[in-house]
Amino acid sequence: MNYIFPKLKKDFKNDDSISNKIYQLIDKLTEETILERDEFLYILDNITKKEMPYLNDSAYNVKYKFYQNRVYLRGLIEISNYCKMGCKYCGINYKVKTIERYRLSIDEILECCKLGYDLGYRTFVIQSGEDSFYTDNLLVDMLKRIKKEMPDVRVTLSLGERSKESYQALFDAGTDRYLLRHETASRRLYEYLHASFMSFDNRRECLSNLKEIGFQVGAGFMVGSPTQTNEDLVEDLFYLKELGPHMVGIGPYLCHEDTELKGNESGTLPESLIMVALVRLLLPKVLLPATTALGSLHTIGREKALKIGANVMMPNISPTENRALYEIYQNKICTTDTSNQCRNCIEGRIVGVGHEIDLGVGDHIDLERVTEND
Ligand code: 5AD
Ligand code: FES
Repeated sequence: MNYIFPKLKKDFKNDDSISNKIYQLIDKLTEETILERDEFLYILDNITKKEMPYLNDSAYNVKYKFYQNRVYLRGLIEISNYCKMGCKYCGINYKVKTIERYRLSIDEILECCKLGYDLGYRTFVIQSGEDSFYTDNLLVDMLKRIKKEMPDVRVTLSLGERSKESYQALFDAGTDRYLLRHETASRRLYEYLHASFMSFDNRRECLSNLKEIGFQVGAGFMVGSPTQTNEDLVEDLFYLKELGPHMVGIGPYLCHEDTELKGNESGTLPESLIMVALVRLLLPKVLLPATTALGSLHTIGREKALKIGANVMMPNISPTENRALYEIYQNKICTTDTSNQCRNCIEGRIVGVGHEIDLGVGDHIDLERVTEND
């Protein structure tokens, strides 16, 4: 049982005075890009379906101002489902015995990149469980090869928590961006959701190290995880404002029945979309993906996210035979598709909701660099 967004769960219709207060707060957030804690909480505690179009339009307009209706594409390669970490919600954490483990060699990763390059992608997101197999030396070799063969691409790594020295080595070898979701900014919830050997403080330390080194940094959180409260979500918003990441990944918690958290309710689409919209207003220029988890929860979850402020999609370019094994949650989309199929599917979806694909490198607007001479 979780307690977030109480009025969304029922057929509530606010009286006009409550609706007006929510509209005013949305206007204030749009203008000032921050609210007081109790003001955010007021929105989360009181919002109903009635106020959602107003929030959606406000968020869409802010996105349009900076990025218009362009959607940046990132080719996602899930390189290994070995993981030494204990995120209790995640279907590939070290305790899960029901999945077969796989990892890709550097040659195989290069193959995926080349395929992605031919499909037009100019950013590769290389993601993995926390797998010690990928040493700094191995990754540095991989990065050099990618950048040598495809000099006009950006490389994003998403390999979890590593030492500052390791992050520095990866940066020096040409990594442009690093994604590390903070998962939740509430210490209580973090500790509830993770094994006791994991550290809330270390997670934050990693994120500040990544920023300090000079990566474009992505943080992010799940919506609707077991015991999460609206106060916890307000903490997420404040933490994001303080960190100032270039990207924020937001998706619903999706219950995986082979994990310790089996039997819990998953997060919902409206709750997740509200958080996407609020983050667009909070960090107007942020790169905001319409996440795979949103698409897995609802057939048009990603399209709905585009219409409320998201501006990035991450089509899968992993080898099809490995995809089902990267099962961080069940019923994940794209697991039987080829990279080509995802390319066509994504384009159709983007165009279908009045957006256009942008096959550029898609840097954060404050960091746009000339790519020709890279
Ligand atoms: N439901 C939703 N998101 C999940 N993640 C991991 N497991 C789940 C799940 N069961 C998210 C985490 C992680 C990212 C790779 O996927 O936020 O950082
Ligand atoms: Fe992969 Fe639609 S994006 S099948």
